[in-house]
Amino acid sequence: MIIYTEVSELDKFIINGGKRLRGSVNISGAKNAAVAIIPAVILADDVCVIENVPQINDVTIDLQILRHIGADVRLLDKSTIRIDPKHIKDTVVPYELARHMRASYYFLGTLLSKFNHAKVSMPGGCDLGDRPIDQHLKCFKALGAEYTIEHGIVEISADKLIGTQIYFDKVTVGATINAMLASVKADGLTILENAAKEPHIVDLANFLNSIGANIIGAGTDVIKIRGVKRFKGTHYTIIPDQIEAGTYMIAAAATKGDVTVNGIIPKHLEPITSKLRKVGAIIEERDESVRVIGSDSYERTNLKTMPHPGFPTDMQPQFAALLTLAKGTSILTEGIFDNRFRYVDELRRMGADISVDGKVAVIEGIERLTGAPVKVADLRAGAALIIAGLCADGITEIEEIQHIERGYENMDKKLRELGADIVKRKFPDAVDSIAKIV
Ligand code: UD1
Repeated sequence: MIIYTEVSELDKFIINGGKRLRGSVNISGAKNAAVAIIPAVILADDVCVIENVPQINDVTIDLQILRHIGADVRLLDKSTIRIDPKHIKDTVVPYELARHMRASYYFLGTLLSKFNHAKVSMPGGCDLGDRPIDQHLKCFKALGAEYTIEHGIVEISADKLIGTQIYFDKVTVGATINAMLASVKADGLTILENAAKEPHIVDLANFLNSIGANIIGAGTDVIKIRGVKRFKGTHYTIIPDQIEAGTYMIAAAATKGDVTVNGIIPKHLEPITSKLRKVGAIIEERDESVRVIGSDSYERTNLKTMPHPGFPTDMQPQFAALLTLAKGTSILTEGIFDNRFRYVDELRRMGADISVDGKVAVIEGIERLTGAPVKVADLRAGAALIIAGLCADGITEIEEIQHIERGYENMDKKLRELGADIVKRKFPDAVDSIAKIV
Protein backbone atom coordinates (compact mmCIF):
# COMPACT_ATOMS: atom_id res chain seq x y z
CA MET A 1 0.00 0.00 0.00
CA ILE A 2 1.51 3.31 -1.07
CA ILE A 3 -0.34 6.44 -0.04
CA TYR A 4 1.76 9.54 -0.31
CA THR A 5 -0.83 12.03 0.85
CA GLU A 6 -4.22 11.33 2.28
CA VAL A 7 -6.17 14.26 1.04
CA SER A 8 -9.67 15.44 1.69
CA GLU A 9 -11.46 17.98 -0.43
CA LEU A 10 -12.18 19.80 2.83
CA ASP A 11 -8.54 20.12 3.93
CA LYS A 12 -7.18 23.66 3.98
CA PHE A 13 -3.90 25.48 4.31
CA ILE A 14 -3.98 28.29 6.85
CA ILE A 15 -1.21 30.86 6.38
CA ASN A 16 -0.37 33.71 8.69
CA GLY A 17 1.52 35.89 6.23
CA GLY A 18 4.40 38.29 6.57
CA LYS A 19 7.26 35.96 7.53
CA ARG A 20 10.44 36.17 5.45
CA LEU A 21 11.49 32.71 4.24
CA ARG A 22 15.02 31.80 5.32
CA GLY A 23 17.20 28.69 5.14
CA SER A 24 17.43 25.92 2.58
CA VAL A 25 14.99 23.60 0.87
CA ASN A 26 15.59 20.31 -0.97
CA ILE A 27 13.83 19.84 -4.26
CA SER A 28 12.06 16.56 -5.05
CA GLY A 29 12.05 14.58 -8.29
CA ALA A 30 10.25 16.12 -11.23
CA LYS A 31 6.53 15.40 -11.36
CA ASN A 32 6.28 15.66 -15.12
CA ALA A 33 9.24 13.31 -15.61
CA ALA A 34 7.93 10.81 -13.03
CA VAL A 35 4.48 10.59 -14.61
CA ALA A 36 6.09 9.72 -17.96
CA ILE A 37 8.81 7.38 -16.68
CA ILE A 38 6.58 5.31 -14.38
CA PRO A 39 4.24 4.21 -17.23
CA ALA A 40 7.32 3.72 -19.45
CA VAL A 41 8.47 0.95 -17.09
CA ILE A 42 5.80 -1.25 -18.71
CA LEU A 43 8.11 -1.49 -21.73
CA ALA A 44 10.93 -3.10 -19.75
CA ASP A 45 11.27 -6.88 -19.78
CA ASP A 46 12.83 -6.87 -16.31
CA VAL A 47 12.75 -5.08 -12.95
CA CYS A 48 13.29 -1.29 -12.85
CA VAL A 49 14.31 0.65 -9.75
CA ILE A 50 13.42 4.32 -9.97
CA GLU A 51 14.98 6.80 -7.54
CA ASN A 52 14.07 10.37 -6.65
CA VAL A 53 10.38 9.69 -7.19
CA PRO A 54 8.37 12.62 -5.79
CA GLN A 55 5.87 11.78 -3.04
CA ILE A 56 2.84 13.32 -4.70
CA ASN A 57 -0.63 12.12 -5.53
CA ASP A 58 -0.08 11.94 -9.28
CA VAL A 59 2.62 9.34 -8.58
CA THR A 60 0.30 7.45 -6.22
CA ILE A 61 -2.23 7.18 -9.03
CA ASP A 62 0.37 6.06 -11.58
CA LEU A 63 1.56 3.31 -9.22
CA GLN A 64 -1.98 2.27 -8.56
CA ILE A 65 -2.61 1.95 -12.29
CA LEU A 66 0.54 -0.17 -12.66
CA ARG A 67 -0.65 -2.46 -9.87
CA HIS A 68 -4.10 -2.66 -11.36
CA ILE A 69 -2.73 -3.95 -14.68
CA GLY A 70 -0.52 -6.53 -12.97
CA ALA A 71 2.86 -4.97 -12.09
CA ASP A 72 4.56 -5.74 -8.79
CA VAL A 73 5.25 -2.35 -7.18
CA ARG A 74 7.29 -1.95 -4.00
CA LEU A 75 8.47 1.11 -2.14
CA LEU A 76 12.15 0.58 -1.20
CA ASP A 77 12.38 3.88 0.64
CA LYS A 78 10.32 7.02 0.58
CA SER A 79 11.52 8.07 -2.88
CA THR A 80 12.73 4.78 -4.40
CA ILE A 81 10.38 2.40 -6.14
CA ARG A 82 10.97 -1.08 -7.49
CA ILE A 83 8.65 -2.06 -10.30
CA ASP A 84 8.52 -5.53 -11.81
CA PRO A 85 6.49 -5.26 -15.02
CA LYS A 86 6.98 -8.91 -16.14
CA HIS A 87 3.47 -10.03 -15.22
CA ILE A 88 1.48 -7.16 -16.69
CA LYS A 89 -1.28 -8.55 -18.90
CA ASP A 90 -4.14 -6.11 -18.61
CA THR A 91 -4.25 -3.25 -21.14
CA VAL A 92 -7.25 -1.43 -19.70
CA VAL A 93 -6.94 1.58 -17.36
CA PRO A 94 -10.32 2.21 -15.70
CA TYR A 95 -11.99 5.59 -15.41
CA GLU A 96 -11.76 5.73 -11.58
CA LEU A 97 -7.96 5.75 -11.89
CA ALA A 98 -7.43 7.66 -15.15
CA ARG A 99 -9.77 10.54 -14.30
CA HIS A 100 -7.51 12.01 -11.65
CA MET A 101 -4.62 13.02 -13.82
CA ARG A 102 -3.86 14.19 -17.31
CA ALA A 103 -0.74 12.07 -17.64
CA SER A 104 -2.81 8.87 -17.49
CA TYR A 105 -2.80 9.16 -21.28
CA TYR A 106 0.82 8.00 -21.30
CA PHE A 107 -0.58 4.51 -20.66
CA LEU A 108 -2.03 4.71 -24.18
CA GLY A 109 1.41 5.06 -25.75
CA THR A 110 3.20 2.59 -23.54
CA LEU A 111 0.54 -0.17 -23.55
CA LEU A 112 0.08 0.20 -27.30
CA SER A 113 3.82 -0.13 -27.76
CA LYS A 114 4.15 -3.22 -25.57
CA PHE A 115 0.87 -5.07 -26.26
CA ASN A 116 -0.49 -3.49 -29.46
CA HIS A 117 -3.62 -2.55 -27.50
CA ALA A 118 -4.70 0.00 -24.90
CA LYS A 119 -8.00 1.19 -23.49
CA VAL A 120 -7.77 4.30 -21.31
CA SER A 121 -10.34 6.81 -20.17
CA MET A 122 -9.92 10.33 -21.60
CA PRO A 123 -7.57 12.16 -19.24
CA GLY A 124 -8.43 14.44 -16.32
CA GLY A 125 -5.93 16.81 -14.70
CA CYS A 126 -5.88 20.60 -14.37
CA ASP A 127 -8.62 22.51 -16.16
CA LEU A 128 -6.54 24.99 -18.17
CA GLY A 129 -9.04 25.37 -21.02
CA ASP A 130 -9.45 23.20 -24.08
CA ARG A 131 -6.85 20.38 -23.93
CA PRO A 132 -7.35 18.21 -27.02
CA ILE A 133 -5.36 15.03 -27.67
CA ASP A 134 -5.50 15.20 -31.46
CA GLN A 135 -1.71 15.27 -31.82
CA HIS A 136 -1.38 12.11 -29.69
CA LEU A 137 -3.95 10.31 -31.81
CA LYS A 138 -2.31 11.53 -35.01
CA CYS A 139 0.98 9.92 -33.89
CA PHE A 140 -0.62 6.60 -33.00
CA LYS A 141 -2.38 6.53 -36.37
CA ALA A 142 0.80 7.44 -38.26
CA LEU A 143 2.51 4.49 -36.56
CA GLY A 144 -0.21 2.17 -37.87
CA ALA A 145 -2.74 2.04 -35.01
CA GLU A 146 -6.52 2.48 -35.22
CA TYR A 147 -8.54 4.12 -32.46
CA THR A 148 -12.08 4.75 -31.33
CA ILE A 149 -13.37 7.17 -28.70
CA GLU A 150 -16.65 6.00 -27.18
CA HIS A 151 -18.28 6.85 -23.86
CA GLY A 152 -15.18 8.85 -22.88
CA ILE A 153 -12.82 5.94 -23.45
CA VAL A 154 -10.01 5.82 -26.00
CA GLU A 155 -9.38 2.34 -27.37
CA ILE A 156 -6.43 1.85 -29.61
CA SER A 157 -4.93 -1.17 -31.31
CA ALA A 158 -2.51 -2.13 -34.04
CA ASP A 159 -1.46 -5.32 -35.79
CA LYS A 160 2.01 -3.92 -36.03
CA LEU A 161 3.62 -0.52 -35.37
CA ILE A 162 5.84 0.80 -38.13
CA GLY A 163 8.29 3.69 -37.81
CA THR A 164 7.32 6.88 -39.62
CA GLN A 165 7.90 10.61 -39.84
CA ILE A 166 5.60 12.78 -37.70
CA TYR A 167 5.40 16.57 -37.76
CA PHE A 168 3.59 18.08 -34.75
CA ASP A 169 1.21 20.87 -35.76
CA LYS A 170 2.01 22.57 -32.47
CA VAL A 171 4.67 22.04 -29.86
CA THR A 172 3.20 19.62 -27.34
CA VAL A 173 4.92 17.95 -24.41
CA GLY A 174 2.31 15.23 -23.97
CA ALA A 175 2.14 14.18 -27.61
CA THR A 176 5.95 14.20 -27.94
CA ILE A 177 6.15 11.87 -24.94
CA ASN A 178 3.37 9.61 -26.18
CA ALA A 179 4.96 9.41 -29.63
CA MET A 180 8.29 8.39 -28.05
CA LEU A 181 6.56 5.76 -25.92
CA ALA A 182 4.54 4.38 -28.83
CA SER A 183 7.45 4.19 -31.26
CA VAL A 184 10.33 2.69 -29.24
CA LYS A 185 9.43 -0.83 -30.37
CA ALA A 186 8.10 0.03 -33.84
CA ASP A 187 9.77 -1.45 -36.90
CA GLY A 188 12.44 0.88 -38.30
CA LEU A 189 12.98 4.59 -37.75
CA THR A 190 10.52 7.16 -36.37
CA ILE A 191 11.37 10.84 -36.74
CA LEU A 192 9.49 13.38 -34.62
CA GLU A 193 9.68 16.94 -35.93
CA ASN A 194 8.67 20.14 -34.12
CA ALA A 195 9.02 18.09 -30.93
CA ALA A 196 8.85 19.64 -27.46
CA LYS A 197 12.22 20.15 -25.72
CA GLU A 198 11.34 20.21 -22.01
CA PRO A 199 13.83 18.68 -19.53
CA HIS A 200 11.39 15.86 -18.75
CA ILE A 201 11.43 14.81 -22.41
CA VAL A 202 15.18 14.43 -22.20
CA ASP A 203 14.76 12.56 -18.92
CA LEU A 204 12.27 10.13 -20.45
CA ALA A 205 14.63 9.55 -23.42
CA ASN A 206 17.50 8.88 -20.98
CA PHE A 207 15.34 6.41 -19.08
CA LEU A 208 14.23 4.65 -22.26
CA ASN A 209 17.82 4.50 -23.53
CA SER A 210 18.85 3.03 -20.17
CA ILE A 211 16.50 0.08 -20.78
CA GLY A 212 17.89 -0.36 -24.29
CA ALA A 213 15.98 2.04 -26.55
CA ASN A 214 17.72 3.86 -29.36
CA ILE A 215 16.65 7.52 -29.14
CA ILE A 216 18.72 10.50 -30.22
CA GLY A 217 17.95 14.20 -30.38
CA ALA A 218 15.73 14.55 -27.27
CA GLY A 219 16.06 18.17 -26.11
CA THR A 220 16.07 19.41 -29.73
CA ASP A 221 13.05 19.72 -31.99
CA VAL A 222 13.93 16.61 -34.00
CA ILE A 223 13.91 13.28 -32.15
CA LYS A 224 14.92 10.08 -33.93
CA ILE A 225 13.81 6.74 -32.54
CA ARG A 226 14.99 3.47 -34.01
CA GLY A 227 12.76 0.60 -32.89
CA VAL A 228 14.20 -2.04 -30.55
CA LYS A 229 12.37 -5.27 -29.73
CA ARG A 230 13.58 -6.19 -26.25
CA PHE A 231 14.25 -4.03 -23.22
CA LYS A 232 16.19 -4.78 -20.06
CA GLY A 233 15.64 -3.55 -16.50
CA THR A 234 17.42 -0.50 -15.12
CA HIS A 235 18.25 1.61 -12.08
CA TYR A 236 17.35 5.20 -12.89
CA THR A 237 17.23 8.53 -11.03
CA ILE A 238 14.61 11.13 -11.98
CA ILE A 239 15.74 14.74 -12.52
CA PRO A 240 14.85 17.43 -9.97
CA ASP A 241 11.57 19.29 -10.40
CA GLN A 242 12.28 22.61 -12.07
CA ILE A 243 8.78 23.93 -11.36
CA GLU A 244 8.95 23.07 -7.66
CA ALA A 245 12.38 24.75 -7.52
CA GLY A 246 11.10 27.83 -9.34
CA THR A 247 8.13 28.03 -6.98
CA TYR A 248 10.41 28.17 -3.91
CA MET A 249 12.64 30.72 -5.67
CA ILE A 250 9.66 33.01 -6.26
CA ALA A 251 8.35 32.42 -2.72
CA ALA A 252 11.77 33.41 -1.35
CA ALA A 253 11.86 36.56 -3.47
CA ALA A 254 8.24 37.52 -2.75
CA THR A 255 8.70 37.25 1.02
CA LYS A 256 11.95 39.26 0.84
CA GLY A 257 13.68 36.19 2.18
CA ASP A 258 17.02 34.46 1.73
CA VAL A 259 16.67 30.85 0.61
CA THR A 260 19.03 28.30 -0.91
CA VAL A 261 17.21 25.89 -3.20
CA ASN A 262 19.17 22.62 -3.24
CA GLY A 263 19.37 19.59 -5.47
CA ILE A 264 18.55 21.29 -8.76
CA ILE A 265 19.90 21.70 -12.29
CA PRO A 266 20.37 25.49 -12.53
CA LYS A 267 20.32 25.38 -16.36
CA HIS A 268 16.68 24.23 -16.24
CA LEU A 269 15.81 27.33 -14.21
CA GLU A 270 17.36 29.95 -16.48
CA PRO A 271 14.10 31.61 -17.62
CA ILE A 272 13.01 31.97 -13.99
CA THR A 273 16.41 33.10 -12.74
CA SER A 274 16.64 35.70 -15.46
CA LYS A 275 13.15 37.12 -14.78
CA LEU A 276 13.74 37.20 -11.03
CA ARG A 277 16.99 39.12 -11.58
CA LYS A 278 15.21 41.49 -13.94
CA VAL A 279 12.66 42.48 -11.28
CA GLY A 280 15.32 42.96 -8.61
CA ALA A 281 16.05 39.70 -6.76
CA ILE A 282 19.65 38.60 -6.26
CA ILE A 283 20.36 35.08 -7.45
CA GLU A 284 23.61 33.26 -6.78
CA GLU A 285 23.99 30.16 -8.94
CA ARG A 286 26.07 27.21 -7.79
CA ASP A 287 26.56 23.75 -9.31
CA GLU A 288 23.45 22.14 -7.84
CA SER A 289 21.74 24.95 -5.99
CA VAL A 290 20.67 28.57 -6.23
CA ARG A 291 20.49 31.13 -3.46
CA VAL A 292 17.72 33.70 -3.79
CA ILE A 293 18.03 36.92 -1.82
CA GLY A 294 14.84 38.95 -1.91
CA SER A 295 14.62 42.68 -2.39
CA ASP A 296 12.55 45.19 -0.40
CA SER A 297 10.85 46.30 -3.60
CA TYR A 298 10.44 44.88 -7.10
CA GLU A 299 10.33 46.40 -10.56
CA ARG A 300 7.58 45.68 -13.06
CA THR A 301 8.17 43.40 -16.05
CA ASN A 302 6.40 41.82 -19.00
CA LEU A 303 6.34 38.10 -19.46
CA LYS A 304 5.11 35.66 -22.10
CA THR A 305 4.94 31.93 -21.52
CA MET A 306 6.35 29.72 -24.26
CA PRO A 307 7.50 26.14 -24.79
CA HIS A 308 10.94 25.31 -23.33
CA PRO A 309 13.38 27.06 -23.22
CA GLY A 310 10.91 29.95 -22.92
CA PHE A 311 9.29 31.00 -19.65
CA PRO A 312 7.22 27.96 -18.50
CA THR A 313 3.47 28.27 -18.35
CA ASP A 314 3.66 26.25 -15.11
CA MET A 315 5.45 29.22 -13.45
CA GLN A 316 3.14 31.95 -14.74
CA PRO A 317 0.66 32.04 -11.80
CA GLN A 318 3.46 32.07 -9.19
CA PHE A 319 5.27 34.93 -10.95
CA ALA A 320 1.99 36.82 -11.21
CA ALA A 321 1.68 36.61 -7.42
CA LEU A 322 5.09 38.29 -7.08
CA LEU A 323 4.23 40.97 -9.66
CA THR A 324 1.10 42.01 -7.74
CA LEU A 325 3.61 43.64 -5.35
CA ALA A 326 5.99 45.11 -7.95
CA LYS A 327 6.15 48.83 -8.78
CA GLY A 328 4.20 49.75 -11.93
CA THR A 329 2.28 47.84 -14.58
CA SER A 330 3.27 44.32 -15.64
CA ILE A 331 1.79 42.52 -18.62
CA LEU A 332 1.57 38.72 -18.62
CA THR A 333 0.76 36.89 -21.84
CA GLU A 334 -0.16 33.21 -21.66
CA GLY A 335 1.21 31.58 -24.80
CA ILE A 336 0.26 27.93 -24.14
CA PHE A 337 -3.16 27.45 -22.53
CA ASP A 338 -6.54 29.18 -22.99
CA ASN A 339 -7.56 29.31 -19.37
CA ARG A 340 -4.59 29.82 -17.12
CA PHE A 341 -5.80 32.87 -15.18
CA ARG A 342 -8.23 31.09 -12.88
CA TYR A 343 -6.27 32.32 -9.84
CA VAL A 344 -6.87 35.97 -10.70
CA ASP A 345 -10.24 36.36 -8.97
CA GLU A 346 -8.75 34.83 -5.84
CA LEU A 347 -5.74 37.19 -5.86
CA ARG A 348 -8.20 40.08 -6.30
CA ARG A 349 -9.89 38.96 -3.08
CA MET A 350 -6.50 39.54 -1.45
CA GLY A 351 -6.35 43.09 -2.85
CA ALA A 352 -4.41 42.50 -6.10
CA ASP A 353 -5.16 44.80 -9.02
CA ILE A 354 -5.31 42.51 -12.07
CA SER A 355 -7.42 42.63 -15.19
CA VAL A 356 -7.61 39.87 -17.77
CA ASP A 357 -8.49 40.09 -21.44
CA GLY A 358 -8.27 36.71 -23.15
CA LYS A 359 -4.72 35.44 -22.80
CA VAL A 360 -3.34 38.72 -21.40
CA ALA A 361 -3.31 39.83 -17.77
CA VAL A 362 -2.44 43.38 -16.74
CA ILE A 363 -1.15 43.70 -13.19
CA GLU A 364 -0.95 47.07 -11.46
CA GLY A 365 1.46 46.67 -8.57
CA ILE A 366 0.12 47.48 -5.11
CA GLU A 367 1.77 48.09 -1.72
CA ARG A 368 0.42 45.06 0.11
CA LEU A 369 -1.86 42.04 -0.13
CA THR A 370 -4.27 41.17 2.66
CA GLY A 371 -5.15 37.66 3.78
CA ALA A 372 -8.52 36.27 2.68
CA PRO A 373 -10.31 32.94 2.21
CA VAL A 374 -9.44 31.70 -1.29
CA LYS A 375 -10.05 28.60 -3.38
CA VAL A 376 -7.56 26.70 -5.57
CA ALA A 377 -8.62 26.07 -9.19
CA ASP A 378 -5.60 24.09 -10.39
CA LEU A 379 -2.15 22.94 -9.28
CA ARG A 380 -0.02 25.99 -10.13
CA ALA A 381 -2.84 28.39 -9.26
CA GLY A 382 -2.61 26.83 -5.81
CA ALA A 383 1.11 27.57 -5.61
CA ALA A 384 0.41 31.20 -6.57
CA LEU A 385 -2.15 31.52 -3.76
CA ILE A 386 0.33 30.09 -1.28
CA ILE A 387 2.96 32.65 -2.35
CA ALA A 388 0.39 35.44 -2.07
CA GLY A 389 -0.66 34.18 1.36
CA LEU A 390 2.96 34.09 2.55
CA CYS A 391 3.33 37.80 1.63
CA ALA A 392 -0.08 39.02 2.75
CA ASP A 393 -0.96 40.78 5.98
CA GLY A 394 -3.02 38.46 8.20
CA ILE A 395 -4.60 35.08 7.62
CA THR A 396 -5.16 33.39 4.26
CA GLU A 397 -7.30 30.26 4.24
CA ILE A 398 -6.73 28.18 1.14
CA GLU A 399 -9.43 25.66 0.14
CA GLU A 400 -9.33 22.78 -2.36
CA ILE A 401 -5.68 22.03 -1.64
CA GLN A 402 -5.97 18.55 -3.17
CA HIS A 403 -4.92 20.24 -6.42
CA ILE A 404 -1.65 21.35 -4.79
CA GLU A 405 -0.96 17.90 -3.33
CA ARG A 406 -1.17 16.36 -6.79
CA GLY A 407 2.13 17.99 -7.66
CA TYR A 408 4.03 19.41 -4.66
CA GLU A 409 5.65 17.09 -2.11
CA ASN A 410 5.00 18.16 1.50
CA MET A 411 4.73 21.81 0.56
CA ASP A 412 3.46 22.99 3.94
CA LYS A 413 6.25 21.12 5.76
CA LYS A 414 8.97 22.46 3.46
CA LEU A 415 7.65 26.00 3.90
CA ARG A 416 7.46 25.63 7.70
CA GLU A 417 11.12 24.57 7.67
CA LEU A 418 11.84 27.88 5.92
CA GLY A 419 10.05 29.79 8.68
CA ALA A 420 6.60 30.17 7.14
CA ASP A 421 3.57 30.12 9.42
CA ILE A 422 1.47 27.59 7.50
CA VAL A 423 -0.55 24.66 8.78
CA LYS A 424 -2.74 22.08 7.12
CA ARG A 425 -6.15 21.82 8.72
CA LYS A 426 -7.20 18.20 8.16
CA PHE A 427 -10.67 16.77 7.86
CA PRO A 428 -9.88 13.07 8.24
CA ASP A 429 -13.45 11.87 7.86
CA ALA A 430 -13.68 13.19 4.34
CA VAL A 431 -10.73 11.51 2.67
CA ASP A 432 -10.99 11.97 -1.08
CA SER A 433 -11.08 9.17 -3.57
CA ILE A 434 -7.40 9.70 -4.44
CA ALA A 435 -6.56 8.11 -1.12
CA LYS A 436 -9.40 5.60 -1.22
CA ILE A 437 -8.32 4.04 -4.50
CA VAL A 438 -4.87 3.13 -3.18
C1 UD1 B 1 2.48 19.32 -20.07
C2 UD1 B 1 2.73 19.37 -18.60
C3 UD1 B 1 2.12 20.63 -17.99
C4 UD1 B 1 2.60 21.85 -18.73
C5 UD1 B 1 2.43 21.70 -20.24
C6 UD1 B 1 3.08 22.82 -21.03
C7 UD1 B 1 2.86 17.07 -17.97
C8 UD1 B 1 2.20 15.93 -17.28
N1 UD1 B 1 2.15 18.20 -17.99
O1 UD1 B 1 1.07 19.28 -20.27
O2 UD1 B 1 2.50 20.69 -16.64
O3 UD1 B 1 1.85 22.97 -18.33
O4 UD1 B 1 3.04 20.47 -20.68
O5 UD1 B 1 4.43 22.92 -20.71
O6 UD1 B 1 3.98 16.99 -18.44
N2 UD1 B 1 -2.39 20.50 -27.63
C9 UD1 B 1 -3.19 20.28 -28.73
N3 UD1 B 1 -3.33 18.97 -29.15
C10 UD1 B 1 -2.73 17.93 -28.51
C11 UD1 B 1 -1.91 18.18 -27.39
C12 UD1 B 1 -1.76 19.49 -26.96
O7 UD1 B 1 -3.75 21.19 -29.33
O8 UD1 B 1 -2.91 16.78 -28.94
C13 UD1 B 1 -2.20 21.90 -27.16
C14 UD1 B 1 -2.69 22.12 -25.73
O9 UD1 B 1 -4.08 22.38 -25.70
C15 UD1 B 1 -1.85 23.31 -25.31
C16 UD1 B 1 -0.53 23.09 -26.05
O10 UD1 B 1 -0.82 22.17 -27.11
O11 UD1 B 1 -2.44 24.50 -25.79
C17 UD1 B 1 0.57 22.52 -25.19
O12 UD1 B 1 0.07 21.37 -24.52
P1 UD1 B 1 1.04 20.20 -24.05
O13 UD1 B 1 2.45 20.67 -24.19
O14 UD1 B 1 0.64 18.95 -24.72
O15 UD1 B 1 0.69 20.10 -22.52
P2 UD1 B 1 0.48 18.81 -21.66
O16 UD1 B 1 1.35 17.72 -22.18
O17 UD1 B 1 -0.97 18.57 -21.49
